[in-house]
Amino acid sequence: MKVSPSLLSADFGNLAKDIDMINRSDADLLHLDVMDGVFVPNISFGFPVIKHVQRLCQKPLDVHLMIVEPQKFIPQVRDCGAAIMTVHQEACIHLNRVVQQIHDAGMLAGVSLNPATPVAMLKDIICDVDLVLLMSVNPGFGGQKFIVQTLNKVRELRQLITLNGSHAEIEIDGGVNDVTGAQLAEAGADILVAGSYVFGADDPIKTIEGLKNL
Ligand code: DX5
Ligand code: ZN
Repeated sequence: MKVSPSLLSADFGNLAKDIDMINRSDADLLHLDVMDGVFVPNISFGFPVIKHVQRLCQKPLDVHLMIVEPQKFIPQVRDCGAAIMTVHQEACIHLNRVVQQIHDAGMLAGVSLNPATPVAMLKDIICDVDLVLLMSVNPGFGGQKFIVQTLNKVRELRQLITLNGSHAEIEIDGGVNDVTGAQLAEAGADILVAGSYVFGADDPIKTIEGLKNL
């Protein structure tokens, strides 16, 4: 299993310390949640912060934009050194164009679905994306309870990917811990995002290792 710890639950007063922990861990990616207070009812951090994080972080940056009109910010996300740029399907009228623009900017393209958005919305784009990020909570806050229906969505998405011969990876975001992580592994997830479970742990490095071994 790949693991992408979410910086949202890190100590914003001492990010360097938490990024050092990530560097020393087995984490595959670092997940960065950008919120605009419009697409989601919260505001997190923006590009100046991500640029500093990038300088310190040795893991590829997995940037999750929970914002309206994400296509406006493709150059900024690229200039932050992001490896993956994920936009919400619900935020893009011209999703196919946005995915192309992300690729043209030299990044991997991810598309995220809110809990109420059916997997079928991705049927005609599944071969063009590198990653599908299924939200297993309503986006906006860390520390929420995992929505169990996500397990069915993972199975459905796995089927869609296989049927179409897509190379897209399945990433899950929200309420991930050892129990839900094991269920997600069984359902067919490739990457687990975990915020509060990792950064709230007494031993975050061991916690990441535990998720990796699922
Ligand atoms: C939620 C964010 C998540 C969040 C997950 O809106 O997209 O990445 O950090 O937090 P946990 O793992 O605490 O549910
Ligand atoms: Zn996220």
